[in-house]
Amino acid sequence: MSSYIIEGGKKLEGETYVSGSKNASLPIMAASILSGKTTKLYNVPDIYDIKFTSDILKVLGCTVKRNKNKITINSKQIKTHEIPDKLMREMRSSVILAGAIIGRFKNAVFSYPGGCDIGSRPIDLHLQGFKKLGINIIEESGFIKCMADKIVGAEIHLDFPSVGATENLMLASVLAEGETIIKNAAREPEIQDLQEMLNKMGANIEGAGTGIIRIKGVKTLKDVSYTIMPDRIEAGTLLCSIAITRGKGIIRNVIPEHIAPIIAKLEECGCKIQVNSDIIKIESNNRLKGIEIKTMPYPGFPTDMQSVFGALLTTAKGTSVIIENIFENRFKYINELKRMGAKATIEGKMAVMKGVRKLSNAEVNSTDLRGGAALILAGLFANRKNKSK
Ligand code: UD1
Repeated sequence: MSSYIIEGGKKLEGETYVSGSKNASLPIMAASILSGKTTKLYNVPDIYDIKFTSDILKVLGCTVKRNKNKITINSKQIKTHEIPDKLMREMRSSVILAGAIIGRFKNAVFSYPGGCDIGSRPIDLHLQGFKKLGINIIEESGFIKCMADKIVGAEIHLDFPSVGATENLMLASVLAEGETIIKNAAREPEIQDLQEMLNKMGANIEGAGTGIIRIKGVKTLKDVSYTIMPDRIEAGTLLCSIAITRGKGIIRNVIPEHIAPIIAKLEECGCKIQVNSDIIKIESNNRLKGIEIKTMPYPGFPTDMQSVFGALLTTAKGTSVIIENIFENRFKYINELKRMGAKATIEGKMAVMKGVRKLSNAEVNSTDLRGGAALILAGLFANRKNKSK
């Protein structure tokens, strides 16, 4: 099991930049399946989930080559339409590959996806949407078999603006007959990035970033080169890392509009933020104060930043309240923070934090990706010499 040893107590000061977005790279890599041609992707982060997605693409029959931050995928020779169960279990976003496989071949076999333990993560909205597109679904021995003679555009209303379902349905309908309209679609920036890449590949999609996305089916797609957008959650995590150490710094390669709710909350805590094009300057404050946070679908405050803010608020003066509206298990990191001296109580989807002056060293377990980031932030604050909050 991998571990990090963090020697905290130092202010973070300096300059860094944000990598390409994980959550945009994954559906965009899936989109490469649709063309049967070559996709060149730039600014792809060098992380585990990308390696897994590459492994699945290779099992399907794609060639995948990585050279630093560039990934080249050729999907001409796909030989199987089944995503291996072992790889499905590793990562929830592997379900996105299903939409692309069905979109191109009209059939796919996969099992229920795995991923971080942050609560129940059903795929009912994905499957309901597939059915609307004329795809038959058989669930058998833990496997989901999707088959269609043809995929026909339809109007799909999502009960909840699920990011994954929106992306999957876009992928499944790019090559469909006629027009697909997704209503109550997720509005996250990663969906806009997917639309932009697909359109560059020859798709005809509009509306990403709004609640209604229209996909007019096209017959063929072409080779594409595309640069992945910066990761808004990494940007927010870096800003919070500087904030928790009461440091100051500059973050480059950010799309400020994507992190507007994060900037607003950091300012409310008492940080000074200056935005200049794709550069953000932050100066923290020795007297950060507690605030309230409520996670919401975009453009609301992102659930992926909840735990990182949780760590920060543990150290802010007064009482903070966090309401988690998206994933029910996303407070597990708080019990680990308590081992370091945090004062917090959890009641259903609400956590209440009472700011403490110091956190101490401890051995803690990362329960999920973003929860792990929160613990690293707490580690950065631990053993701080200046004890004013
Ligand atoms: C994506 C992001 C993840 C982020 C989340 C919410 C990727 C790879 N992951 O995850 O980092 O935290 O968006 O911004 O992009 N739901 C259903 N039925 C479904 C699908 C979802 O009930 O068929 C529910 C989920 O249980 C959850 C909520 O909808 O409560 C949001 O899930 P969704 O937007 O689908 O998140 P993901 O796409 O899994």
